[in-house]
Amino acid sequence: MKEFVYRWSAQDYSTLDKVPFIGYLTDSNRNILVATGFRKWGMTHSHVAALLFRDLILDKENPYETLYVPSRFVTDPSVKRVIQTNVDVAKHLVKGKLKKPTKKVDDLKNEEGAIVQVDGKRCGAYKDKNGKLFLVDSTCTHMGCEVKWNSGEKTWDCPCHGSRFAINGDVVEGPAERPLKQVQEGDL
Ligand code: FES
Repeated sequence: MKEFVYRWSAQDYSTLDKVPFIGYLTDSNRNILVATGFRKWGMTHSHVAALLFRDLILDKENPYETLYVPSRFVTDPSVKRVIQTNVDVAKHLVKGKLKKPTKKVDDLKNEEGAIVQVDGKRCGAYKDKNGKLFLVDSTCTHMGCEVKWNSGEKTWDCPCHGSRFAINGDVVEGPAERPLKQVQEGDL
């Protein structure tokens, strides 16, 4: 079997309507321009962004300004997708808390991570290649959803707003700003 010597992975942001945000961050603040949510179409949309930014800065008309304007959800009264997204977050929040982990620390092989039960409590557990155990509180420090194990990248990922944490709980990517709490087996 072939060995994978290198791996590459990335997170890709997507807006609610899947069209990038390119333009002024808000209508009232004309000092900050934003370009994001390219959904793997960065080569194309970075060029669109450059042209649109040029026209916005020079106060020239551009036919794509309204298509990409980042404030479109605020001004659009049909915010059904926004509501649906928040309902999905709430579902993750409740479901994550109710689901009882079936694994225990002893079930984990080296280089494996999972949500486990330790003394009846949920924890995120990972054993490194030498069998060293890392235990973290599985409650996301952003808004309290339950993180999930990402075996491809060996991170704890939050399904609610995309925060990611390292095996020792450090923040890899926000919106969370605080690390997951490290847990010692004796603490529980
Ligand atoms: S609860 Fe928001 S990123 Fe985890």
